[in-house]
Order: sequence, then C-alpha cells, then structure tokens
Amino acid sequence: MLTITDLNVDLAGNQILRNINASFGAAQTIAIVGRNGAGKTTLLRSIMGLTGVKSGVIMLNDIDLTRRPAHIRAAYNIGYSPEDRVIFPTMTVEENLRLPCITQKQSRKEIDERLAVVLKVVPQIEPMLKRSGAALSGGQGKMVALGRALMVGTRMLLLDEPFQGLAPKLSMDYTQALSRLRVLQPELCIVITESNIKLLGNIPDQTWTIERGSIDAQAITMKEGV
Ligand SMILES: Nc1ncnc2c1ncn2[C@@H]1O[C@H](COP(=O)(O)OP(=O)(O)O)[C@@H](O)[C@H]1O
Ligand SMILES: [Mg+2]
Repeated sequence: MLTITDLNVDLAGNQILRNINASFGAAQTIAIVGRNGAGKTTLLRSIMGLTGVKSGVIMLNDIDLTRRPAHIRAAYNIGYSPEDRVIFPTMTVEENLRLPCITQKQSRKEIDERLAVVLKVVPQIEPMLKRSGAALSGGQGKMVALGRALMVGTRMLLLDEPFQGLAPKLSMDYTQALSRLRVLQPELCIVITESNIKLLGNIPDQTWTIERGSIDAQAITMKEGV
C-alpha cells in the first residue's frame, strides 16, 4: 500500500534519515522502535508531508506522495497523532475532532457518522466532548489525539510514541482502543513508534528497528503465527 524507496531526509544540514526502504501493507500493525533521536518522528513527519525530503520516493499504491502537501495525504485518509498531541486549547474536544474532516470539506453527515465510529473505538472521549481542549490531562490529550487521527485516518494511522508517559490504566485503555479498531477496521494499517519496546506488549505484528536514521531489515521481527 504505502512504499518508501531510498528515502533521505536532512534537517538543518544534518542527515537524519538514511536510505530508508520500507513497505506498509493494509491490515498490518507495524511498530518502529528506536532510541530517542533515532529518527522515528522524522520518518512519520516525512510520510505525512510535514518535512521536506532530500531524495527518495513515497508512493501510496500508484500515487506519488513525495512532494504532495500534508493536507493531500490526509485526504488520502492517512491520520497522524503527533508525539506532542497538539490539541487546540481554544476549541472544545469535539471541535478538535471535527476539524480535520471540516478541513477536508466532508459533509456534516459524514463527519457525524465518523465521529460515532471513533467514539465506539475510544469511548473515553465521549464524556470529554464539550470540554475545552485546554482542560485535558496529558493522558486524556493522547486519547483525544488518537480520536482526531482516526477521524481521517481510515486507511493508515501514524501514532508517534503514544505510550510515552501514559499511566498504566490509560495505557490499557489505549491498547483496548487499538484492539477494537482492529475489529472495526481490519484493513487499516497502523504504525506505532516507540523507544521502549516493552510498552507495546502484543500489539504489533511486525517490529522494525530504527537506528541513526536507518531501518535495519535484518532486525525486523514478526509476531509468532503471523
Ligand atoms: N527541526 C530539526 N532541526 C534539526 N535537527 C532535528 C530537527 N528535528 C529533529 N532533529 C534531529 O533529528 C534526529 C532525529 O530526531 P527525531 O526524528 O525526532 O527522533 P526520534 O523521534 O526517534 O526521537 C535527532 O538527532 C534530532 O536532534
Ligand atoms: Mg520522536
């Protein structure tokens, strides 16, 4: 589905991603594990079109996304939950959730229907809907950021270190949300980055290792039975 070929990304004159080759298929849950500074966020931002690419190609099936802006990638139903959440504090939680779909010019009916599905996946959001985005704890913000990514992310979902700093109860809620998502949207490709592999438990069916901007093909591990 999404294929990255020989991707190189520089930031501030430093080579950050080096010759990344990777293929993300439908119905997969892929973990990308690497220590801080390895390039996980830069890789997700490159897929999302939030950072410039020096060379290489990012294809979604036969569509070349490499130089397309982020909103186009959202229109192709790629959702992104950044590491630092970025929930708008001057809007309610519900407005935060609806915003990416409004930006995509979806109809009121489409957005209502999608919101209902998202609330099934992440029911913890329901009681927070009318609250201000400023009134959320860090963990609640992560749940809302997941919901917001899901509003448009019906094909591919990019989650940047969702488990970092989550209390055990919220971690469990988050994991259960991902399990419900697997059932409700079996074709979705879920990509999760993490620096601590232990936080991922049994979620991924493939785990890739990223080190100094390279993905080591030898280090890819598959869950047993997949
Ligand atoms: N905007 C930026 N300008 C310059 N260097 C950056 C920028 N963002 C990240 N980096 C550098 O790129 C490397 C990879 O960062 P990042 O992708 O955030 O790694 P990770 O998410 O795995 O912690 C780090 O060495 C970091 O210092
Ligand atoms: Mg990061």
